[in-house]
Amino acid sequence: MSVSQSAVELINHLDRDYLRQALEHDVRTGLTSTPKWLPPKWFYDAAGSDLFSQITRLPEYYPTRRELAILRERAADIAARSGADTLVELGSGTSEKTVLLLDALTAAGTLRTYTPVDVDSVTLGDAARRLTARYPGLAVRAVCADFERHLALLPRTGRRMVAFLGGTIGNLDPVAREVFLKELRTTLRPGDSFLLGADLVKDTGRLVAAYDDADGVTAAFNRNVLHVINRELGSTFEPDAFEHVALYDVQHDWIEMRLRATRAMNVRIADLGLSVSFAAGEEMRTEISAKFRPEGLRKELAAVGFTVSRHYTDPTGDFSLVLAGA
Ligand code: SAH
Ligand code: AVI
Repeated sequence: MSVSQSAVELINHLDRDYLRQALEHDVRTGLTSTPKWLPPKWFYDAAGSDLFSQITRLPEYYPTRRELAILRERAADIAARSGADTLVELGSGTSEKTVLLLDALTAAGTLRTYTPVDVDSVTLGDAARRLTARYPGLAVRAVCADFERHLALLPRTGRRMVAFLGGTIGNLDPVAREVFLKELRTTLRPGDSFLLGADLVKDTGRLVAAYDDADGVTAAFNRNVLHVINRELGSTFEPDAFEHVALYDVQHDWIEMRLRATRAMNVRIADLGLSVSFAAGEEMRTEISAKFRPEGLRKELAAVGFTVSRHYTDPTGDFSLVLAGA
């Protein structure tokens, strides 16, 4: 379905039926597993996206600032190397950092089309409208889609650069990550490029602080998934009865966010005809955020047929932007 919103093109592959079925499937699967888990994509309704934006401005949450610093230094180089006329951005959110790439590609004289892709249609529509106003000559073709399912539906024409910023790659578990990278690789042609933002392994204290901030914004973001499920599936979660947990798993090199039940409770998920019980202290995983080593990133990309042409980091070595060729 394609709707024109104030001259902005928004193609929606996630109609209500699709979203509902996917949410029902994920909630049933996750809440009937041992241990229980929920996939992170359901954090992002309009409220969740807003909380994420607040996270990006927290003193503890360094990734956004670090990635911005790299883009400020390197966007012109990335634009020149990619030669892209079409920028496709997966998990684009508010597209705030993207303006650095859009400016650089505009200055290079190649850019024609920007396709932001996100599951949150509200934030996507807002970003698309903002960018349409800011770049009058640019065709902004927003696509509301799931990057784990709909890569084949993304634009196939032009010389493309696919950007996947923010370290969102780390929110996929290793198997899902490999599947995603393989699928992305098969959709790209010679001359296309992939720009990947990835957070790097570092001191555990800083990592944990970034996911357990003093103001409790990340805790609210974590609990938001329960508000989403209550609203969409008529469930009886009491979000305040769950504590936010963030820990670093050194074996896997990832942050794990969990919600811990502060007491024993039963939750009814009316629309699934499902009752789920939580023991006092029981923890449910809601997100992993994998941290990478430069060599590991290169190997993962090479394993699916990408060739890394540039590996940029910020001066502190906290975050990486990798430019790879198809
Ligand atoms: N790229 C931005 C936003 C990162 S937040 C930045 O770097 O700051 C992660 C974004 O990915 C959110 O906007 C969320 O809605 C989106 N997202 C999460 N899972 C997704 C999926 N499976 N398909 C498409 N978008 C997804
Ligand atoms: C979107 N993603 C890269 C964020 C991260 O850092 O893993 C999501 C997030 N979760 C808690 N804080 C931020």
